[in-house]
Amino acid sequence: MIQIIMKPELHKFSTCKEFAEEFQIGENDLILTNEYIYQPFFGQLDLKCHTVFQEKYGMGEPSDVMAEAILNDIAKLNCKRIIAIGGGTIIDLAKVFAVADTTDIDALYAKMPNLTRTMKLVMVPTTCGTGSEVTSIAVLNRTRMGTKMGLVAPTMYADSAVLIPELLQSLPLKVFATSSIDALVHAVESCLSPNGTSYTKAFGYKAIEMIINGYRKLVKNGLDTRKELMEDFLIASNFAGLAFGTAGCGTVHAMAYPLGGQYHVAHGESNYAVFTGVMKEYMRHREDGEIAVMNDFLAKLLGCDVAKVYDALEDLLNMVLPKKALREYGVKEEELAEFAKSVIDNQQRLLKNSFIPMTQEMVCKIYRDLY
Ligand SMILES: [Fe+2]
Repeated sequence: MIQIIMKPELHKFSTCKEFAEEFQIGENDLILTNEYIYQPFFGQLDLKCHTVFQEKYGMGEPSDVMAEAILNDIAKLNCKRIIAIGGGTIIDLAKVFAVADTTDIDALYAKMPNLTRTMKLVMVPTTCGTGSEVTSIAVLNRTRMGTKMGLVAPTMYADSAVLIPELLQSLPLKVFATSSIDALVHAVESCLSPNGTSYTKAFGYKAIEMIINGYRKLVKNGLDTRKELMEDFLIASNFAGLAFGTAGCGTVHAMAYPLGGQYHVAHGESNYAVFTGVMKEYMRHREDGEIAVMNDFLAKLLGCDVAKVYDALEDLLNMVLPKKALREYGVKEEELAEFAKSVIDNQQRLLKNSFIPMTQEMVCKIYRDLY
C-alpha cells in the first residue's frame, strides 16, 4: 500500500524576483496567471516569457469551456514550460494544459488516466487552500454534464511546487476564508480516509493544528492581522495537499460538487456548506476508530468537550466565514434528491475515501438537514 506520494520538488522563496532568477524564466516559458497578480509582483522584472491572463477567458472556477478557449490560444505559442501562478483555477488549468494533446476536454477525460505530458510544469499557489500544487488532479466544471469532475493522472504532478508567501499578502478576506477552510477540509477528510497512513496523517493533523490555531489567533487579534499568518496558512495548505494527494478527499468534497457545479458557489465555501453536516452524519453511524481520534484532537485544540466538537468548530469557522443554509444559495428543495443521485453516480472516486460507506439515502438526508 502506498504510504505517501511526494512527487514535485518543493521550493520556498522570500520574493518573486528570487524565484524568477532561480528558475531562469525566459522566452520558452508561459506564465499562466491573473493580471492583478502579474503586474505588482512580476511586471517590473522585465521577463521575456509569454503570459496568459486567465480572466480574459471568463470569471469563476475552471470549466471545460474556459480550458478549451485557452488551449486554442496557447497551442500556437510552442512553449516548453508552463508556470502557473494563482489560485486553484490557474493551477488546475495548468495541470490540464500540461497533458493536453488535444483541445477537446471531453476527449481528455475519456483517455484518463493515460495522459501524456507535453510541457514542463511549475506551480506557484497564491491562495492558502487547494494544496493543488502537490497533487495530480485538476477539477473542472463539466458544463455539458452539470457537475464538477476531477481529471487525474500520474503525469499531472508538477515538476516543481514553489511557495512564495509574499504573493498572499493582499489576499482578500473572502478568498482567505474560503481557501483556508478548503485546506482544513482536505486535512480532515484525508485523516478520516480509509486510505490514510501514518505519513498522510502526520501532515493532515499538523495542517489541522496550524489552521485552527491560526483561526483562534485571528479571532483574538482581529481578521486584519492575518498578513503575519499567511506563511503558516500557505504551509498548512501544502501539508493538507500532501495528505489528501495520497489519502484522498471524501464525502464532503463529493457533496460540495453539485452545489459548486450548478450554483457556482466557491469551492471552499461549498465544502463548508456541507462539512459539519457530513461529520455529524458520520458520528450517527460510528463513533469509534479514526473519528474518535479526530474528535479528541479537535476538542483539545478548541478547548471544548468532545461531544460539542463540531458545534465549537462551526462557531469558530463562522467568525471567518458565516455558514449559509443550502436554500440561501438558491437551491430548490426538489433538487436535493437529484444532487444526491449525482453524487452517487459521478463521485465514486471520492466516495471510496469516505469514513463510512455512503448510500444515496444518507447523502440525501445530509442535504435535507442542511437545507
Ligand atoms: Fe478542495
